[in-house]
Amino acid sequence: MPRSSLLELEDVEARYGQMRALHGVSLEVGEGELVAVLGPNGAGKTTTLRAVSGTVRRSGKIAFAGKSIARRSPEAVARLGIAHVPEGRGTLSELTVAENLRLGAYTRRDRAAVREDTGRVLAHFPWLGERSDQRAGTLSGGEQQMLALARALMLRPRLVLLDEPSLGLAPKVVAEIFRIVRELNERDGLTVLVVEQNANLALDSSSRAYVLEAGRVALEGTSAELRRNESVRRSYLGY
Ligand SMILES: Nc1ncnc2c1ncn2[C@@H]1O[C@H](COP(=O)(O)OP(=O)(O)OP(=O)(O)O)[C@@H](O)[C@H]1O
Ligand SMILES: [Mg+2]
Repeated sequence: MPRSSLLELEDVEARYGQMRALHGVSLEVGEGELVAVLGPNGAGKTTTLRAVSGTVRRSGKIAFAGKSIARRSPEAVARLGIAHVPEGRGTLSELTVAENLRLGAYTRRDRAAVREDTGRVLAHFPWLGERSDQRAGTLSGGEQQMLALARALMLRPRLVLLDEPSLGLAPKVVAEIFRIVRELNERDGLTVLVVEQNANLALDSSSRAYVLEAGRVALEGTSAELRRNESVRRSYLGY
């Protein structure tokens, strides 16, 4: 079980119009944890992250650092320190690298600290600094994913919601992205909730994981436990 819990979902439902996508999801992320969410296409992984960031209609209990965020707007959620890196990255391709990074800090008023954080964030992605005037749209897919993550870090988040960072990227690039995510977690104590279809990678990187199926939590446990679980092996690990 997590140490003191930073994020807590209890019986969360979410819907798109009449279509219910989550049917009572409960999960917990402890302060400083890296937790993974696995599951097949359409299971509700993305919707779970959206329920937290306030970008889908939801009900149920969602608490962050002991406060309810179930009725807060996406901007209010971001201001509390939750950064959402959506599926498909969401970097603005017409803007430069530097402009994308500045956008990540748009809710912040502490200009001097933002400048300081730019340096700290770029230390994880040294090549981004050299390309600050390059338009984001001209970066490779992997570089855009790293920019999306760097932009999220500009919020100085307490929690990062990361949706399928590996999508469409070559294995080497994916490995590098997960190396950085683990580094942020282990070295800087960043709390991360990551959705990932690559179960091997997700279970290697995380301490605990949830398996979603059809809008519900089908399984949960430590990543080591889930690795040994027969049905996880068969359905997600392929052996
Ligand atoms: N914008 C939307 N409008 C209507 N239905 C949606 C929308 N987005 C998702 N859904 C539906 O909600 C359910 C959960 O979708 P969700 O995107 O959360 O799944 P997922 O686990 O992230 O899948 P994937 O692995 O494909 O990303 C699915 O049945 C999906 O068709
Ligand atoms: Mg998804």
